[in-house]
Amino acid sequence: MKARWRNSLGALLAVVALGVTVLVAVLLIRTYTLAEFKRVRLGKGAPAAELSQGEREQLIEALKGAIRIPTVSFSETEQNTTALAEFGQYIRKVFPLVFSSSLIQHEVVGGYSHLFTVRGSDSNLQPYMLLAHFDVVPATPEGWEVPPFSGEELNGYIYGRGTIDDKNCVIGILQALEFLLKRGYKPRRSFYIGFGHDEEISGSYGAMKIVETLQSRGIKLLFLVDEGLAVLDGVIQGTRRPIAL
Ligand SMILES: *[C@@H]1O[C@H](CO)[C@@H](O)[C@H](O)[C@H]1NC(C)=O
Ligand SMILES: [Zn+2]
Repeated sequence: MKARWRNSLGALLAVVALGVTVLVAVLLIRTYTLAEFKRVRLGKGAPAAELSQGEREQLIEALKGAIRIPTVSFSETEQNTTALAEFGQYIRKVFPLVFSSSLIQHEVVGGYSHLFTVRGSDSNLQPYMLLAHFDVVPATPEGWEVPPFSGEELNGYIYGRGTIDDKNCVIGILQALEFLLKRGYKPRRSFYIGFGHDEEISGSYGAMKIVETLQSRGIKLLFLVDEGLAVLDGVIQGTRRPIAL
């Protein structure tokens, strides 16, 4: 009796676990295949309010320009290396303070990836790290309201491959740093920024080389923040409010 009860409880748990797994998978697949992943809403939130109108326009243009560089990872062995190199030139041009600040050391790692070391004033504090990637999966024009690498704005949205996976994070991090440097920002805690060029095809030459570089220097991180997607509204089934992933 007891054993049978335990068996049926086990079976029930297995069914529940399977159900949860399927639900999560469905949500993920749904999330990753939906059209909402083609555009990003232009925010009117609090942080933007601290920017001047000129800075706000600068931020929007920075993202649009990044979308226009087709940094596509076609397959495990094929990437648009011209675009990957161009992206490196692009960020140097758009974020001059980041690249000229005496607090920041910039290195190209693994051919096209970027590693920034931002030196804080208190070397006793353990550093953290921010990550993002700038390669994108392929996109053909079919099914797009505007061409996927045009970075066009339509009805208050910027459209394009990479707008929310993951050039938004790359540009967001660099733009934040650029604006902070402009305001005389000097961090107490050191931090690293890593931008991978082959995340969509496993990161063997980007993230892995960045890890090797940091390990060879004996660096231990306090924490690390990676791509977390956008604030999604109505994309994940069963949710009634915007969800920050
Ligand atoms: C690769 O990127 C360059 C821009 O950097 C672009 O001109 C070219 O059309 C792209 N090639 C392919 C096959 O997408
Ligand atoms: Zn991504």
